[in-house]
Amino acid sequence: MTQEVFLVELVSASPEETINTGERIAGFLHPGSVVALRGGLGTGKTYLTKGIARGLGVKEEITSPTYTIICEYQGKLPLYHIDAYRLGGDDDFNALGGEDFLYGPGVSVIEWSELLRQSIPPEAIIVEISLLEGNHRLIRIPSLAMEEFYP
Ligand SMILES: Nc1ncnc2c1ncn2[C@@H]1O[C@H](COP(=O)(O)OP(=O)(O)OP(=O)(O)O)[C@@H](O)[C@H]1O
Ligand SMILES: [Mg+2]
Repeated sequence: MTQEVFLVELVSASPEETINTGERIAGFLHPGSVVALRGGLGTGKTYLTKGIARGLGVKEEITSPTYTIICEYQGKLPLYHIDAYRLGGDDDFNALGGEDFLYGPGVSVIEWSELLRQSIPPEAIIVEISLLEGNHRLIRIPSLAMEEFYP
């Protein structure tokens, strides 16, 4: 028996390429989807979210929700852009009504999702971004297969 290996792994060489990757991810999203972004400061999580927003047809400019924590945008589906950086953890998130977003009719994209371990649903699409040399970023999506991503 062959075991299917799911793993998208790609290198982005510029912010534009990261936006394009986000736009491609949007094609896999539906009401209730959660995209859990992981990666340190300045890796490109907000740029990737800009691409997801573009793919969802959001016309508004996406900005970093660090201080507001949750920003809502309207596209083909509602987009909830969440930044957990300033939250104390899952309890803070729940106090803000975070679960209502995750289980709402839109798509949730969460920066610093590693800080909300108990709130992220198991079926979330995890996207890990890490720094490589210069402007290069390694983007890994363990739950998607390369053949679906680049058919
Ligand atoms: N390949 C790349 N992809 C994305 N961003 C890149 C890339 N190369 C350089 N950059 C730069 O890295 C920065 C990424 O910023 P961004 O706000 O998206 O990061 P972030 O992961 O959201 O950071 P934070 O943890 O502060 O929220 C930008 O200044 C962007 O110009
Ligand atoms: Mg950010």
